[in-house]
Amino acid sequence: MSLLRAVNLTKTFAIGSRPVEALRGVSIELPENSFTFVVGPSGSGKSTFMHLAGALERPTSGTIEVAGRDLGALSDDELSDFRREKLGFVFQAFNLIPNLNAVENVLVPFYAKGLAEGMREKAKEMLKRVGLGDRLDHRPRQLSGGEQQRVAIARALLKDPLLLLADEPTGELDSKTGAEIFALMRSLHREKGASVVVVTHDTRYIEPADRVIRIEDGRIVEEK
Ligand SMILES: Nc1ncnc2c1ncn2[C@@H]1O[C@H](COP(=O)(O)OP(=O)(O)OP(=O)(O)O)[C@@H](O)[C@H]1O
Ligand SMILES: [Mg+2]
Repeated sequence: MSLLRAVNLTKTFAIGSRPVEALRGVSIELPENSFTFVVGPSGSGKSTFMHLAGALERPTSGTIEVAGRDLGALSDDELSDFRREKLGFVFQAFNLIPNLNAVENVLVPFYAKGLAEGMREKAKEMLKRVGLGDRLDHRPRQLSGGEQQRVAIARALLKDPLLLLADEPTGELDSKTGAEIFALMRSLHREKGASVVVVTHDTRYIEPADRVIRIEDGRIVEEK
């Protein structure tokens, strides 16, 4: 079964008098338990695609299904439940809550259903795994950009999502930390069966079994 199926997705932004066609008809199918890289030049539509896949924005036209749900058919409330239950995000612009510390930010997806016993300890454990054991009480503004990314990754890992969407997760990290982040995403994929879609310029992390989608000028120009 496919985890994500997009048919003829377009997204046009109306800014001033000239519309920007960020996506111009993207069709793609990603199977369950797949690891996909999205590559392409700056401004080609990669983040726009990720926002649509993550149900953070709606397409201008076309359809997108994730985990068998037609996102266009869901109300805003249903979309936010869907995001909370099924998706993990590591996005620069959809990140942490400023007045919560690192542990609390990792626990955000769990508060809605009431925090199960032991979750706080698991959150701390996960933060240690991403190298933030000595930053547990820090709030986002007391963390560097890369440390904030790692909090978001810890949150996604703890949540055990069906689909992890990561937009330049290692953009602000040194190469050692970047490699660790990819190792963590790989373990979520291999051990928990999550599908991962990652936008990155770090193509050295691509493995033979991965899919690579190249987007240029709002269209998929290559898929392998
Ligand atoms: N909210 C918005 N309003 C207007 N235009 C937008 C908006 N978001 C993106 N765009 C435009 O759509 C195009 C695609 O943007 P997008 O962010 O998807 O590119 P990208 O491939 O992620 O680039 P980068 O590698 O630089 O992050 C760009 O020309 C951008 O200026
Ligand atoms: Mg982008």
